[in-house]
Amino acid sequence: MARILIIGSLEAELGAAARIAVARGARLAAAEGVAAGIERLRAQGADLVLCDVVHDVGWLVAQLAEERIACPVVACGRPDDAEAAVRAIRAGAKDFLPLPPEADLIAAMLQAVAADPDRPVVQDAAMTGLLARAEQVARADASVLITGESGTGKEVLARHIHAASRRARGTFVALNCAALPEALLESELFGHEKGAFSGAVAARKGKFEQAEGGTLLLDEIGEMDPRLQAKILRAIQEREIDRLGGAAPVKVDVRILAATHRDLATEVARGRFREDLYFRLAVVRLRIPALRERQGDILPLARHFARRYARANGLPERGLSPEAERVLVAHAWPGNVRELENTLHRAVLLAEGHAIGAEAIDLLETAPPPTPEPVAINAVPVAVAPPPPVAALVGRRVEEVERDLIIETLSHCLGNRTRAAEMLGISIRTLRNKLHEYRAAGVSVPPVPGQPPYGAVAG
Ligand SMILES: Nc1ncnc2c1ncn2[C@@H]1O[C@H](COP(=O)(O)OP(=O)(O)OP(=O)(O)O)[C@@H](O)[C@H]1O
Ligand SMILES: [Mg+2]
Repeated sequence: MARILIIGSLEAELGAAARIAVARGARLAAAEGVAAGIERLRAQGADLVLCDVVHDVGWLVAQLAEERIACPVVACGRPDDAEAAVRAIRAGAKDFLPLPPEADLIAAMLQAVAADPDRPVVQDAAMTGLLARAEQVARADASVLITGESGTGKEVLARHIHAASRRARGTFVALNCAALPEALLESELFGHEKGAFSGAVAARKGKFEQAEGGTLLLDEIGEMDPRLQAKILRAIQEREIDRLGGAAPVKVDVRILAATHRDLATEVARGRFREDLYFRLAVVRLRIPALRERQGDILPLARHFARRYARANGLPERGLSPEAERVLVAHAWPGNVRELENTLHRAVLLAEGHAIGAEAIDLLETAPPPTPEPVAINAVPVAVAPPPPVAALVGRRVEEVERDLIIETLSHCLGNRTRAAEMLGISIRTLRNKLHEYRAAGVSVPPVPGQPPYGAVAG
């Protein structure tokens, strides 16, 4: 269930947006203005903010960055007010929602911040067994470690465990540990006291406190750095956390679920993941098989998505032709359920006629098999060619790759903003804004030549 904060008057068209969001299962909070909105975010957090452009969206986005609160902001306004839309996007809003709102757009936004709350669709024996086990352990309060390839449904399973637990009426909070730089992640997890860092103008609750009485999913925990791993361990063991800059620990009653696409045991062996935290998290381990290992799920899932996307697009519900079914079952699905979902979404839009035929099933080229580990023959290591540079990026987020590229280019240009912007093909202004964001998030940025690293010069 996505938590949405609406900033603006609910009497006008934003009220319609609020009603649609609630009808789609979102949990709603509202604030009359930006300052009140930030107060709510500090106290309760949210998965998404909708802010009327009559309010200062730029200030809101900047203030969230200053306070290290990671929450996407979508600006809302009249579609004919192009200037306000452009201003909001430049200021860092993730998107612009034209008012009056379209139900489909709101549904898409909700889906982007929280997977749909349906019960997982399962039929293959490998999955029904796993689901039964998940429901059984849901009742206990032990931590659960969910593993599985990307797109197998780790978050879906985590939500299901929450829904089947005694904490179902509490909040489910998910945090993607791979998506945020360390400083921002820390403040997202534990919150902070007033004055903890220069932008911390007020105290703020982190995800642990937001999930009080509920469940916290630490997604992609394998990417978390060792310092934060130690803090998580303490939170689980002591059932208390320390806000940044806090003088006394805060008691928390939260059930921890963790998910990762990595093999954490191997990460432990390689010294990249704390063994004690691993054992704490892996009290119960649930491994979701890849879709190719549970072929019995392919068609039930495909039919489920065909129905869902027909409804979402106001199209008649149609079945799959036998030929389409053969094509789906024969595919290897390297992107797992997410790939199947996207394929069916496209198919629903492309199909003509009474059934969804094979011609509407547009399969993306199968990705090359994962690069093998270096092989040793007669103890002489055989060099394995490095993967082509772009293939090596698969699995990483665009935002993160962009950040690394920008910072790397900037240090290549010895901090010269003009040169770097030219090389990157972006405006100096965009570059400055990005660097500002990174710095606010605690990432170290190469200084302007001849300036101290955190000099007063902009950008
Ligand atoms: N059993 C299922 N029933 C219905 N939908 C599913 C199921 N499994 C996955 N999905 C859908 O597939 C998509 C991917 O699922 P999810 O986000 O849970 O996967 P994930 O393992 O967390 O992926 P990633 O590693 O990429 O984060 C979502 O849109 C989800 O709704
Ligand atoms: Mg996930």
